[in-house]
Amino acid sequence: MTFPLRTLTRDDLDDVGVVLEHAFGEAHTRDDLGPTYGVIDPTRFYGAYDGDTPVATGGSFALDMTVPGAVRPVAGVTWIAVLPTHRRRGLLTALMGRLLEDLHEAGEPLAALWASQGAIYQRFGYGLAAWDAGLTVPSRAAFTTPVEATGLRLVAPTAPELAAVHEVVAPQRSGWWRRDEAWWAFRLQDPESRRGGASPLRCVVADGPDGPQGYALYRTKPSWDGGQPAGEVTVRELAATDAGTRARLWRYLLDLDLMGTVSSHFGPVDEPLLHLLAEPRAAVPTLRDNLWMRLVDVAAALSGRCYGAEVDVVLDVTDRACPWNSGRWRLSGGPAGATCAATTDAADLRLDAADLGAAYLGGTTLSARAGAGHVTELRPGALAAASVAFGWPGPAPHCPMVF
Ligand SMILES: CC(C)(COP(=O)(O)OP(=O)(O)OC[C@H]1O[C@@H](n2cnc3c(N)ncnc32)[C@H](O)[C@@H]1OP(=O)(O)O)[C@@H](O)C(=O)NCCC(=O)NCCS
Repeated sequence: MTFPLRTLTRDDLDDVGVVLEHAFGEAHTRDDLGPTYGVIDPTRFYGAYDGDTPVATGGSFALDMTVPGAVRPVAGVTWIAVLPTHRRRGLLTALMGRLLEDLHEAGEPLAALWASQGAIYQRFGYGLAAWDAGLTVPSRAAFTTPVEATGLRLVAPTAPELAAVHEVVAPQRSGWWRRDEAWWAFRLQDPESRRGGASPLRCVVADGPDGPQGYALYRTKPSWDGGQPAGEVTVRELAATDAGTRARLWRYLLDLDLMGTVSSHFGPVDEPLLHLLAEPRAAVPTLRDNLWMRLVDVAAALSGRCYGAEVDVVLDVTDRACPWNSGRWRLSGGPAGATCAATTDAADLRLDAADLGAAYLGGTTLSARAGAGHVTELRPGALAAASVAFGWPGPAPHCPMVF
């Protein structure tokens, strides 16, 4: 039995939302989904139907995402869900295939996603491109050099200062993207049902001589341990245009009265806080996957970023889910840009599209993929040279929010 796919209209979203509720084991209200509806273009979303009933869904957001040295259109794949009654009958496979074909036809060369489980998407050519370092730090942890938490103001999370800072910061770190009003509404969602007993979202802005230079979005949850204050501060997002501002914001969060710990569940692996702390070991880290990337079109994607060093390499690519990518590609480029085109020249490296996805943002090295047996060096020296070039001297890639 087949379950035909069709693109959605805005009127379909509530019905498809029921698929999400069952697949993710959650209960949504219209209020929960409202901000998500605001960032959805339904023509980029599919439903699979059993008669008139949607039984699976999937689609993508159109994002302007930072990649090494550039800002590029990236399809943010999301809402992948299959009803429990219709699992393991190929619906995910059909949806992923259709989404990739659509992106290929539309000339959108890159896709990115957050995975509910890491095992799901590698078969479709997604590679683990950015890592997430959660941190839990004891309140009042000292810095090597004292920092004064001055020049700070509490504002509503909807204050315009946040967008002003974000516009400066987003182009600097791969994995961030430009936010319009709808994306800010999505980012600032704060239903009471999801607070787990903590406060509403708070926001502190750090000012500099010319205006706002940073902000932290956070919530607090009071608790007591044997009569001692042991509240939790949870940071949702911290952005700063410069190192000093970032330090002031962390100092503020660490010194909030009656709190025992500060946790940031989604943070970059190069978080400067680790270098501010007098005792870095005080920070308890958790490492997990952040963004998974997929090169929909190898040539357009590889020529759409800059490289950390000059590179001239022939890649022999295998790609089961996007067969148009299979074959040999010559990549030539460096810090100022790159070109990539099909070639009949002998290959220097043999690898899968998922390896290129993993290396695309500069957060996973080709050498690491080779260490796991995924990349084969065919010309001595080619792996080290390509691995260095795919790196990037800017901040480590990191996506600040799940979509
Ligand atoms: C994950 C989910 C989308 C899979 O959908 P599905 O229609 O059952 O998947 P398919 O039938 O197309 O399976 C394709 C392959 O992926 C494998 N697969 C599916 N889900 C998997 C999982 N969670 N972990 C590992 N492998 C998985 C299948 O075993 C199958 O492998 P095979 O081809 O070797 O037999 C579905 O189970 C679901 O909605 N889960 C809950 C919501 C969720 O996690 N969504 C993903 C959000 S990022």
